Amino acid sequence: MQIAIDGPASAGKSTVAKIIAQKLNFTYIDTGAMYRASTWLAREHKLSYSDEKGILAAIDKEKIELKNENGQQKVFAGDKDISQDIRTPDISAHVSQVSALAGIRAKMVSLQRQMAGQMNVVMDGRDIGTTVLPAADVKIFLVASAHSRAQRRMLDFKERGIKTNQSLEEIEQDIAERDYKDSHRKISPLKKALDAIEIDTTSMTIDQVVNAILSEIKKSQKNY
Ligand code: DC
Repeated sequence: MQIAIDGPASAGKSTVAKIIAQKLNFTYIDTGAMYRASTWLAREHKLSYSDEKGILAAIDKEKIELKNENGQQKVFAGDKDISQDIRTPDISAHVSQVSALAGIRAKMVSLQRQMAGQMNVVMDGRDIGTTVLPAADVKIFLVASAHSRAQRRMLDFKERGIKTNQSLEEIEQDIAERDYKDSHRKISPLKKALDAIEIDTTSMTIDQVVNAILSEIKKSQKNY
């Protein structure tokens, strides 16, 4: 079974996707982490963020892997655990540029489809329902106001122990900029699939969002 959860930055996708995957005993796949890892590799190899060939070669050399360790998803580049390093504001500022490169997207989409073909997945991202898994059993599109997403991101930094000098307004501005770039790129822009169910999480608790999605999953099973 394939569950696709798309939406803009910090709309709560990964939090709810993880919980749903755990409840259903499915594998959670954070596709944003794959684009972040590609961006991290570009920086590590001192490449330009538009150097598609160079970044692809670095990905082939180092191998980006998502691993589940004690129920937690970890991101590796070769042997190095980069799960924390890929969440910094610097990586967030450049990931839209790297994720707009056609060759990088083709590579990531193929890896994502490979994973989804082997197991039951809850996959979150921007183009899962439209491009990666157009035949997904359930498609969810999560949205929330930019202000509430900035508040969540700030809390997330705190919880992960990531230090930032950014104010709430600056975070909100970064989020709005990333939304714009992700929605206006040529290939697979952030877009709600026609058959996706939109949920506005602005004034919902995590539990409420999880339950809303679980009930959509149940409904879809009844339709078989
Ligand atoms: O979900 P996130 O904020 O970790 O994603 C980081 C970036 O990766 C996001 O700005 C756009 C890109 N991305 C994408 O282009 N396609 C996806 N399926 C997932 C993320």
